[in-house]
Amino acid sequence: MNLLAIETSCDETAAAVIAETGDPRKPWRLESNIVASQAAIHREWGGVVPELASRQHLRDICGVVEQALDTAGVTLDGLGAVAVTQGPGLVGSLLVGVSFAKSIAWSRGIPLVPVHHLAGHIESLTLQHGEMPLPAAVLVVSGGHTSLYLVREPGRYELIARTRDDAAGEAYDKVAKLLGLGYPGGPVIDRLAKDGNDRAYAFPMPRMTHADRNQPKATAPQGLLPPKIERSVDFSFSGLKTAVLREVRGPGQMEARPLTPKQIADLCASFQRVVVESLLDRTFEAARWLGARSVGIAGGVSANSRLRMDALSRGTALALPVFIPSLALSTDNAAMIAAAGLRAYRAGTTAGWDLNADAALKLG
Ligand code: KG4
Ligand code: ZN
Repeated sequence: MNLLAIETSCDETAAAVIAETGDPRKPWRLESNIVASQAAIHREWGGVVPELASRQHLRDICGVVEQALDTAGVTLDGLGAVAVTQGPGLVGSLLVGVSFAKSIAWSRGIPLVPVHHLAGHIESLTLQHGEMPLPAAVLVVSGGHTSLYLVREPGRYELIARTRDDAAGEAYDKVAKLLGLGYPGGPVIDRLAKDGNDRAYAFPMPRMTHADRNQPKATAPQGLLPPKIERSVDFSFSGLKTAVLREVRGPGQMEARPLTPKQIADLCASFQRVVVESLLDRTFEAARWLGARSVGIAGGVSANSRLRMDALSRGTALALPVFIPSLALSTDNAAMIAAAGLRAYRAGTTAGWDLNADAALKLG
């Protein structure tokens, strides 16, 4: 069976076709994967402008879907189902994909499958590498989310930890903006950090402590992690962003001071070291307590060269297999939505014609 998937949750209009292989260890084969990025449009504004995003999705969606079908060599009549990102994301953007997918499914009389965007990121790992040894601890790290999931059986995602404030990708984007490096910030900081000294600035390592005055409830379901661990595995990046801001302005100043290229590279490297260490410390700590047999890292920030390298070397040191998607499957795409969609469809999930976009859809 061929499945078409559509993804329009943020600033990429994407469509992909996958087919089933019949091999339970590597269940899906990617037939096409088309992405029209709007980054050039939003760069001018320093971040994603929701209204511009939905309008651009409208312009791009027909061409992107046509190209996905052409590349895969299938027609609408050759599809067995249509999957679409239902949420979370920008509601106007999501609506374009949801309406388009619904129209195709209705007109061809084929099933419509709703997909959670983060389930898509998680299944990018299976699409790329085949089924991971379970249980797996999977970190989804993107512009909107920093969430750690436990996957005990295929298609079941339990939320173990999440960010208490900014997502890691958001911290990259905000720090890049502070340094005048443009949008999106992750790829630029990643590149500049290569020439910087990652110990030049001693930014604080984010910690969730028990001394919090408004101590929040733990994210993980009770009993999965020991009480002393369950709160400390949550993530936090807003303090780090503020520390970079203070450094950029200098003591007591309100305006950014001029920085040399060397200072910028050092700031990027020092910031990135703290982000990567804090992500990996928590992920591997949780993986150990959860008895995980593998670790996965997915989402836009998993494209980061240092995160990839450090994750793989920690995995090697612990003899724990680490899975990361290819660069094309790390940032937003529809291939991952197709994978999660086909998994959900085979488990019996379909939507009615009243399916609506849900900007705050929850997973796990
Ligand atoms: O998954 P994604 O494409 O979209 C969301 O679902 O949010 O992630 C986008 C995020 C952006 O914040 C971007 O700056 C970050 O991923 N990103 C990176 C890198 N490439 C993209 N962050 C760090 N290093 C990179 N190489
Ligand atoms: Zn994403």
